[in-house]
Amino acid sequence: MKTIIEPFRVKMVEPIRMTTIEERQKLLKKANYNLFSLKSDDVIIDLLTDSGTSSMSANQWSALIKGDESYAGSPSYFHFKKAVQELMPFKHVIPTHQGRAAEAILFSVIGGTGKTIPNNTHFDTTRGNIEATGAEAIDLVVDEAKDTESNYPFKGNMDTVKLEKLLNEKADDIPIVMITITNNAGGGQPVSLQNIKDTKAVCDKFNKPLFIDACRFAENAWFIKQREAKYKNVAVKDIVREIFSMADGMTMSAKKDAFANIGGWLALNDDKLAESARNRLILTEGFPTYGGLAGRDLEAIAVGLSEVVDEDYLAYRIRTIEYMVEALDKAGVPVVKPAGGHAVFIDARKMLPHIPPLEYPGHAVAVGLYELGGIRGCEIGSVMFGLNPDGTQTPAALELVRLAMPRRVYTQSQADYIIECAIALKEKAKDMRGYAITWQPKAMRHFTAKFAQL
Ligand code: F0G
Repeated sequence: MKTIIEPFRVKMVEPIRMTTIEERQKLLKKANYNLFSLKSDDVIIDLLTDSGTSSMSANQWSALIKGDESYAGSPSYFHFKKAVQELMPFKHVIPTHQGRAAEAILFSVIGGTGKTIPNNTHFDTTRGNIEATGAEAIDLVVDEAKDTESNYPFKGNMDTVKLEKLLNEKADDIPIVMITITNNAGGGQPVSLQNIKDTKAVCDKFNKPLFIDACRFAENAWFIKQREAKYKNVAVKDIVREIFSMADGMTMSAKKDAFANIGGWLALNDDKLAESARNRLILTEGFPTYGGLAGRDLEAIAVGLSEVVDEDYLAYRIRTIEYMVEALDKAGVPVVKPAGGHAVFIDARKMLPHIPPLEYPGHAVAVGLYELGGIRGCEIGSVMFGLNPDGTQTPAALELVRLAMPRRVYTQSQADYIIECAIALKEKAKDMRGYAITWQPKAMRHFTAKFAQL
């Protein structure tokens, strides 16, 4: 059969409050045209993020009941640790309340002024946590990533030539090399296993540890199985193990590929580094066997990890995004190609060529989609990245709108509705106008800035 159906049945439902265009126009005005300021009850399809928004399975819900809330040495920690090590065999597994807490701990230990951390593309919290220590975060993704039309299969790859050059220049200042799978900031694009191997070879040459930002590791492994001939007949679970066998450590947000609503971890092999990280953890998160989580959260993550490597799930998950990208592309809505793992990215610069970057075409598309269909996406362009620390603005490299699909939440007819709305918006593109920012904070302005329609 050509139709890849949702490999689950719905047992419990959450009602969606339907709204009209007129209502949404009022709500937008009240929210100063910032979609983060909307109440989620006023959103029909919420594609703001795929983080922490998954539906948990019946098995995860029942595991919650088994959560043991002992302060130290809870069996829930050992279930969690075993589930992580089943896929990612690191010696030390340190739970945290979410991914950025793992980053903050890692960089508080290895970062600092004068240090440089390369990555294919740092996610914004990773960059933020590195820069908060005075260190520098550098993105070294392959050039193909910048071409939204290129069908290059692994647009998340690290440019290993540039990495080697950087290490030749300043190896002493580089404590670790990172690679983010999939490359979220670059469109949810995967990294090939060959590229991880090549990156590891460069790291070995300079005796540098390789750390993986692994938020979407299962989606990345599925792409490897689909697109890297050598792995066609290898089980996703084995691909995952091979990926992590090459790393010295990882940071993780369990809010993505572990189907949990909260959680994360830092895992690594180095005993001394683990000791420093645990000391920091006790200050900021909690005792090392719960790290800012309840025992029940650890149980939900343990079950989620066993479910996310299910290949029927991954086939459905990735096909959903591909299906949407194919339909939008066919209808002339400019989208990033090929389809990424967790989101559809609309290329707003191409959709609204008459709106200059600093009138925020991505923002106009995101607001337009909400107004038209009650769909909430997220601008990833000059609103998010355009503000310099000195208050001036530089247009972002791309003006994208991310429609991130929560895991196991929306059905195919809801995907069809999203497609229909995006096509309808494209049809009125010529009449759409940009935005001005009327108030903004000094940093991370996209969360709280106020806008006016031009
Ligand atoms: N790394 C990547 C690649 C991410 O996508 C995220 C979160 C984090 C780290 C931080 O994890 O949220 O658990 O602290 N990304 C979310 C998103 C927020 O919407 O893309 P966290």
